[in-house]
Amino acid sequence: MPEAAKVRGIFSSIAKRYDLANRVISCGQDTRWRRDVVRMLKARNPAVVVDLATGSGDLAFELRRALPESVSITGLDFCEPMLNEARAKQAGRSWAASIKFVRGDCMALDMPDESVDALTIAWGLRNFENREQGLKEMLRVLKPGGVLYCLEASQPYRWVRWPYYLYLNYGVPFMAWLLTGRKGAYDYLASSIGSFPGRQELGAQMLAAGFSKVRAYPRMFSSIAIHEAIK
Ligand SMILES: C[S@@+](CC[C@H](N)C(=O)[O-])C[C@H]1O[C@@H](n2cnc3c(N)ncnc32)[C@H](O)[C@@H]1O
Repeated sequence: MPEAAKVRGIFSSIAKRYDLANRVISCGQDTRWRRDVVRMLKARNPAVVVDLATGSGDLAFELRRALPESVSITGLDFCEPMLNEARAKQAGRSWAASIKFVRGDCMALDMPDESVDALTIAWGLRNFENREQGLKEMLRVLKPGGVLYCLEASQPYRWVRWPYYLYLNYGVPFMAWLLTGRKGAYDYLASSIGSFPGRQELGAQMLAAGFSKVRAYPRMFSSIAIHEAIK
């Protein structure tokens, strides 16, 4: 698992072009997947929601768009330049003014035990220095019956693996170099995805951490998965 300082450095270096690179690399699908998460979460009527590893805040904004104003939404990240991007977008969106963007580390959340109804995390878990510790912190702050939605890269079905990894190892770093000038950051993306567990294995890790029920929803030939984990 990657070192926190390295992860913070990578995201600091690409913060300004992160959204653009995301849109291009995912062929515009990233927004759709975030909306899938929001739809699932909305059905649970949470009152307090925290978007972990919020980055430039896109999932927090989708949450604000869909949930009643009475629902408290916080976006948390440990990379100030990414949070600055979120705050800059928020400044131009009066409807999103109530989102709190805070600096914090998912390894040690500055939140009381059992204080959150729902957690979301999109493309964050893979970047944790210690996944088990991160999952334990999530469990600690969730209320009993609370839910985690984790949107993350996964291992694609066997028959699409070679074209997928061809794209990931060569296409993505090349496009990222054109868009951000930082090919290295996207070499990291490819290698971190390659070593990340598939749906079943990640589900098992969530159960081992203490979640009581886990369900995984594949997207894009299972190269992406949304895990729903109940405390
Ligand atoms: C790929 S970005 C995802 C941003 C956003 N969630 C999205 O939907 O586009 C990963 C983010 O995770 C953050 N991150 C990684 N480890 C973290 C940790 N331990 N605590 C807080 N943020 C973390 C990084 O700073 C970065 O902004």
